[in-house]
Amino acid sequence: MTTMESLIGLVNRIQRACTVLGDYGGGTGDNAFNSLWEALPTVAVVGGQSSGKSSVLESIVGRDFLPRGSGIVTRRPLVLQLHKTEEGTEEYAEFLHLPKRQFTDFALVRKEIQDETDRITGKSKQISPVPIHLSIFSPNVVNLTLVDLPGLTKVAVEGQPETIVEDIESMVRTYVDKPNCIILAISPANQDIATSDAIKLAKEVDPTGERTFGVLTKLDLMDKGTNALDVLEGRSYRLQHPWVGIVNRSQADINRNADMMLARRKERDYFDTSPDYGHLASKMGSEYLAKLLSKHLESVIRSRIPSILSLINKSIDELERELDKMGRPVAVDAGAQLYTILEMCRAFDKVFKEHLD
Ligand code: GDP
Ligand code: NA
Ligand code: MG
Repeated sequence: MTTMESLIGLVNRIQRACTVLGDYGGGTGDNAFNSLWEALPTVAVVGGQSSGKSSVLESIVGRDFLPRGSGIVTRRPLVLQLHKTEEGTEEYAEFLHLPKRQFTDFALVRKEIQDETDRITGKSKQISPVPIHLSIFSPNVVNLTLVDLPGLTKVAVEGQPETIVEDIESMVRTYVDKPNCIILAISPANQDIATSDAIKLAKEVDPTGERTFGVLTKLDLMDKGTNALDVLEGRSYRLQHPWVGIVNRSQADINRNADMMLARRKERDYFDTSPDYGHLASKMGSEYLAKLLSKHLESVIRSRIPSILSLINKSIDELERELDKMGRPVAVDAGAQLYTILEMCRAFDKVFKEHLD
């Protein structure tokens, strides 16, 4: 039996296949796989520097694995695919650029993200639009694909080119401009929402707010005697989806290695016992956010099945032509890979058609 969850898993696998095959023909970038990739929905995490983007991602995953800190830490897009596995199986991570290695130590995942960032950008504070692809297989995640992006900023710092401010913005725009992009707009509660970089950009590319999820971090850092109800209840800035408030770990928590599961529990307690947010408690926090996003992503994918199917079939045609050109059977690596993908596409075609019924 196929469940809705496996639908996201399926799209995850197609996205991986598209990434590998995106440049199979020598990198013209103009093939059915790229169109397919564009047609699949992704969730992009957008916000100002240090607004808490990486922290939110880590809470969603329930693991410490991202480079984090002050200043510009995320300097390449990180495409993060979460695959829910069976209860009791071991958690591991895998990079697309290191396909033979399974990481079970998440401190090494963080190090590899840093090293791989440096490999392309140098050790400077430069940025690069070339994404890093990371998959996490775990019984504790929901099926979801998320993209962590460099934080929007207003000034270049020492060692950065003057153009960095616009470069980051245009990189972020290449994601959020796409009508299929779901925007996870992160704003810190200890700053005025009117000055939020995330909301400013979301407002521009998604004026009706139908594909924006507003996330308010740092609720614990607000001035005493103030609260964020105007934002969380949609009076400050209305979106089609409800705002979600979050309490991530503070820098002090991170420095003393506060465990992620403990942090999730503390967040839960924060909302359950809060005099301000108690009435919203069941719709707050990172776990709720992860479920909300996964559910939304499923319904978006479901509504796109017909167009995804037609693109898959275009890909199949394209692959068959490519293989014919090479002459079958093909033993060479490239051909073998195309063949594997062709088989995969046929399997996708079959499963998607089942979902249509
Ligand atoms: P990014 O630059 O947007 O990815 O932000 P990070 O996730 O790296 O967070 C920047 C800093 O803010 C880190 O020191 C975090 O510990 C801290 N931080 C993020 N969210 C919260 C929160 O909800 N509460 C508190 N107290 N600190 C937070
Ligand atoms: Na940061
Ligand atoms: Mg970050």
